[in-house]
Amino acid sequence: MTAPNDTLGRPLKDLRISVLDRCNLRCTYCMPEESLNGRGVFLPPHHLLSDGEIEFLARVFATLGVHKLRLTGGEPLLRPGFNELVGRLSPIPGLTDLALTTNAVLLPRNAIALKTAGLTRITVSMDSLDDKVFRDMAGGRGSVQEVLDGIAAAETAGFEQLKINTVVQRDVNDHTIMDLISHFRNTGHTVRLIEFMDVGNVNHWDRNLVVPSAELLKSIHDQWPLRPVASQAASETARRYEFVDGAGEIGFISSITEPFCGDCTRARITANGVFYSCLFSAHGTELRDKIRAGMSAEEMAAEIMGLWSKRGDRYSELRNRLPRRQPHVEMYRMGG
Ligand code: GTP
Ligand code: 5AD
Ligand code: SF4
Ligand code: SF4
Repeated sequence: MTAPNDTLGRPLKDLRISVLDRCNLRCTYCMPEESLNGRGVFLPPHHLLSDGEIEFLARVFATLGVHKLRLTGGEPLLRPGFNELVGRLSPIPGLTDLALTTNAVLLPRNAIALKTAGLTRITVSMDSLDDKVFRDMAGGRGSVQEVLDGIAAAETAGFEQLKINTVVQRDVNDHTIMDLISHFRNTGHTVRLIEFMDVGNVNHWDRNLVVPSAELLKSIHDQWPLRPVASQAASETARRYEFVDGAGEIGFISSITEPFCGDCTRARITANGVFYSCLFSAHGTELRDKIRAGMSAEEMAAEIMGLWSKRGDRYSELRNRLPRRQPHVEMYRMGG
């Protein structure tokens, strides 16, 4: 049974589940320290979906045509028993891609266990190789060396082709991008340059801080000639390019200047079990308490099909026409 397409003809293919809203970093574009306002902003443990509830939802989505599941946070590796959770999700029939988005700081002690548990891919968030720039963007926490150690641990564990997600901000880290790209050329890993997005409500988004991908593409192409690579799937977030000299690939995720809503096949579930049909949704649909009240897998499948069939989101395409910045769920709860 496959979910019906949404109102814009888009199938349901990908699921992103945030497993925890806490993080060991405080990236200024996601969870700036001053916005947290002391204690109490994070979900208490009993509000989080349990391992069993996450597995239940993943199984239901897999029966509806989802092949790709990405686990996000906050920082997923802070969740107690996370590797065991991966081990429960990887055998689910139909799921062919089980990926993780992490800041890599905790990978040295988890990478081998994650590989053994059946994780297929790792994406590392890393904004600069310049330690001062890195720490300024990460809210004074973590270090370049910790992330590089995490990447090395992933490589040793057998995760060969990582994606490195880099959020670019003008006059913050844009001057360090060429260095980052130079470092990852010829490693088999793919750097993806992400336009700073207006997600959440607390990250002081300012259009002047957005560096259009076209600008970065030109600078990089001038130094290392690039040519476009065809997308593997229409729903991919990144425009892909390869270095003409064979040093690998890079990608551009350009939600601000080149929105990609037309092929968006992603559903999202927050750490407390709320379903969102768009990264920028103002409202979601509570699923956790329905599971706790005994909803069956068949009933949940019907609920999700109903939600998907009504979906008409295309926020990034409409952004410029909306009157003012709309309230939406925080990135660290939604998982990006
Ligand atoms: P792959 O499966 O490796 O292609 O990963 P992905 O690009 O789908 O997910 P990832 O978590 O690596 O996201 C990369 C960046 O794209 C992050 O900044 C996300 O917030 C952003 N992103 C992911 N999906 C969407 C989306 O549907 N809409 C928008 N606007 N941004 C997205
Ligand atoms: N704009 C763009 N990307 C962001 N991410 C977090 N906040 C933002 C933002 N405001 C990215 C992280 C991570 C991914 C899940 O989302 O760097 O790689
Ligand atoms: Fe943590 Fe990722 Fe948010 Fe940075 S972007 S604060 S690493 S969840
Ligand atoms: Fe999908 Fe919403 Fe992102 Fe558009 S803005 S690509 S609809 S999640």
